[in-house]
Amino acid sequence: MPKPIYVLSGPNLNLLGSREPDIYGHQTLDDVRALCEARAAALGHAIVFRQSNHEGELVDWIQEAREAACALVLNPAAYGHTSIAILDALKMLNVPVVECHLSNPAARESFRRKTYVSLAATGVVSGFGANSYVLAVEAAAGLAHSS
Ligand code: DQA
Repeated sequence: MPKPIYVLSGPNLNLLGSREPDIYGHQTLDDVRALCEARAAALGHAIVFRQSNHEGELVDWIQEAREAACALVLNPAAYGHTSIAILDALKMLNVPVVECHLSNPAARESFRRKTYVSLAATGVVSGFGANSYVLAVEAAAGLAHSS
């Protein structure tokens, strides 16, 4: 069994399902976890699925992924638009990074158009709701196999 794919989610995503459902959908983060687990398992991978509202905790987990993960899927949520600390942690990762967003930030307010995470990501999946995570897991598994 290869190392797991880490799937990390940032602030306010714990409230998925009740948070602005017109933008983020009705599925909860547990629903997203189940979808990711199923897709990863079909591709021969386990996942480590975590969410935090705290920037430093996300930095700690990204550092942990250096040794423990074969790839990282990250929905940084609002920290993507603000956090140089997360970008710096990602730059030290030696495994592929797939950035993921439920909504399409490029089609929303102008402050969402820039994400620091993109500077360290191999690619970005946005705008497909919960399926963004599933597509990101698929991409991460493919990158892990080819790296
Ligand atoms: C988000 C988009 C971000 O702009 C926003 O701050 C979030 C969620 C998304 O998944 O669409 O919290 O990352």
